[in-house]
Amino acid sequence: MTLAETLVEVIGLTKSFGSIKAVDNISLSVNRGEVLGFLGPNGAGKSTSMKMITGFLTPTSGTIKISGNDISVNPIEAKASIGYLPEGAPAYGEMTPLNFLSFVAEVRGIDNSARASRVDEIIDKIHLERVAHQPIDTLSKGFKRRVGIAQAILHDPEILILDEPTDGLDPNQKHEIRALIKEMAADKAILISTHILEEVESVCTKAIIISNGGVIFSGSPLELSSKSRYHNAITLVVSNKDVEKTTKILKELEEIMAIEHIAEAELTRVTLIPYSSEVEISSLVKARMADYECEILQLYIEQGRLDEVFRSLTNQQKSGEVIRS
Ligand SMILES: Nc1ncnc2c1ncn2[C@@H]1O[C@H](COP(=O)(O)OP(=O)(O)OP(=O)(O)O)[C@@H](O)[C@H]1O
Ligand SMILES: [Mg+2]
Repeated sequence: MTLAETLVEVIGLTKSFGSIKAVDNISLSVNRGEVLGFLGPNGAGKSTSMKMITGFLTPTSGTIKISGNDISVNPIEAKASIGYLPEGAPAYGEMTPLNFLSFVAEVRGIDNSARASRVDEIIDKIHLERVAHQPIDTLSKGFKRRVGIAQAILHDPEILILDEPTDGLDPNQKHEIRALIKEMAADKAILISTHILEEVESVCTKAIIISNGGVIFSGSPLELSSKSRYHNAITLVVSNKDVEKTTKILKELEEIMAIEHIAEAELTRVTLIPYSSEVEISSLVKARMADYECEILQLYIEQGRLDEVFRSLTNQQKSGEVIRS
């Protein structure tokens, strides 16, 4: 087994703006092959952290090592190995994507002879052909974001810092950009911020939640979903005529702490939350339903609901409690 190669290492990162502590003692690392999801409510400090990690903003304190080199000591070399999509995907609005990407390729030092083919390749990869000759200012939000992603990956950097890469994209593009991130992840270290929790499950190998500038969770997406009250809960789909009876007979099981219903046109989803997520209740539930001749149309075990965990962790944090995995 080869040793993990840490490409981004952040220790004790802090940033104050006057009396506001936007980032408060954050530490994290991203190895080659990893995608770290950076989560947190609005104003938590995600973009500010990313600005410091990419050398755009100077920290109040803390160290940032890019491929082992301190970014404050050797900023040019560090920045050369980073691709950065800043918040809001800023670009030169009067330029066309083709001009802008050619300009970025030049700034990034891509050899004159290779420049045009590299730009074409990226335009093709990010599906910018249709708008390649239109001023960026006149592009839709999603296309502007795609231009931002294109400039970030143009020089094939080994570190990618992407601030809300899929914000504003249509579902097809979201899917494509996630697939691209996964495909690139094998030989890069990638840090993405997002408000889309399903993105964490679909692309991230680990996740960090920050709130009020500090880390309140750090672990794998699985560890995050296992904090949900729905972790190992069972959802049964039953016909509406069976809901009352189902609820009555399952309520009597002492392993079940709570029962929730979501009614649809002719069916109801009945979610059974066990007292302990360690207890396997599906066979018990199936047996009881069979005994009372209630038909189960569908049964599935839930992994956990990330939006519920996110809300509960960030709200507990507001009340002063700190959770660490
Ligand atoms: N230049 C600045 N001057 C003063 N305060 C700032 C500055 N930049 C950021 N902040 C403050 O720092 C805090 C963190 O902001 P930041 O943009 O990092 O949050 P975020 O987690 O990216 O939020 P969002 O999810 O809305 O993008 C906020 O309170 C913000 O107002
Ligand atoms: Mg932000």
